[in-house]
Amino acid sequence: MGSMRPSDFNVLEYKMQDLSELIESAKREFAEAGQAAALEDAKARYLGKTGRLTMLMKELGKLAPEERRARGQEINRAKAQVEEALNARREALADEALKQKLAAESIDVTLPGRGRSEGGIHPVIRTWMRVEEIFRSIGFDVADGPEIESDWFSFTALNNPPNHPARSMQDTFYVDRNDDEGRPLPLRPHTSPMQVRYARTHQPPIKVIAPGRTYRVDSDATHSPMFHQVEGLWIDENISFTDLKGVYSDFLRCFFETNDLIVRFRPSYFPFTEPSVEVDMMFTSGPRKGRWLEISGAGEVHPNVVRNYGLDPEKYIGFAFGSGLERLTMLRYGIDDLRLFFEGDLRFLKQFN
Ligand code: FA5
Ligand code: MG
Repeated sequence: MGSMRPSDFNVLEYKMQDLSELIESAKREFAEAGQAAALEDAKARYLGKTGRLTMLMKELGKLAPEERRARGQEINRAKAQVEEALNARREALADEALKQKLAAESIDVTLPGRGRSEGGIHPVIRTWMRVEEIFRSIGFDVADGPEIESDWFSFTALNNPPNHPARSMQDTFYVDRNDDEGRPLPLRPHTSPMQVRYARTHQPPIKVIAPGRTYRVDSDATHSPMFHQVEGLWIDENISFTDLKGVYSDFLRCFFETNDLIVRFRPSYFPFTEPSVEVDMMFTSGPRKGRWLEISGAGEVHPNVVRNYGLDPEKYIGFAFGSGLERLTMLRYGIDDLRLFFEGDLRFLKQFN
């Protein structure tokens, strides 16, 4: 690059030829500077303190006045040309830097959007929400409790002692841990333990529902190993089986949004209720149209269970029920197989949103 040193170039002797070569060499060096810093270095070689043009100016003083004027003008013109070239190159480099920055940050607005697929509420959860809403509207509290439950709350407190044959009504999953009495802890097979948990911590009148997940060794078109129940409990001094029928039938009419329901209360057995029923409802649509499906167990709470609530069964009486949320959902939408709820097939699930 720039070869001639300032002293090589004598103001007393230079020719116009030399001056235009100087301008050309400055322009060349500016053009070769690929970055702002290199350009400033090149500038220093011509216009800096000891730059070639600066040195020429400094030497003007050695000339006789009339010559000094003419040469001064020539050098100034040369300086103006070099400065002009410098500024042009500065702008070009700044443009280039900006272009690169923009390219690095560029957004291709023609690319397809990343998209955010809309979520939806699962049909069973929608049922859960509707059940809560309906029971809240008639003054029921909503309670929640553990899915890993003690043997006592799951069975014994519900008048279902160890070795009682009725325990096999709920073939149960157990976790690998024992409770204080050395019994393995079950995954709750129903929401009924919540009757006892809630009643032991609240005073009558007790009006509560407890929706949640439940677990059993079951699997077919109407049974799933994990499913949802909602427990209902109303305990006061005079809550009869008639109240159960009235409240539960009203609930069904609200839930299904029609009075044209085909429902039967079928005598049944549970250790924790007396008398006991199971509630069946008929499909009015879908592939199961005309067939019954059980939706609930229910009954008047057994005096032994009321005692386990910590209440006097001579004074307090009431009803309890436990309904399957998948079953209610099947009936509402005419679905014939509850396993569809758990397969996660969007073609199925999207129909409910
Ligand atoms: C019970 O679980 C009693 N705890 C209900 C009860 C509560 C009776 C309070 C009296 C007083 P059952 O085993 O019938 O009862 O189950 C109740 C409902 O849960 C059934 O009617 C059905 O709707 C639902 N259900 C039971 N097992 C399954 C399963 N594996 N998959 C889906 N739903 C089920
Ligand atoms: Mg049953």
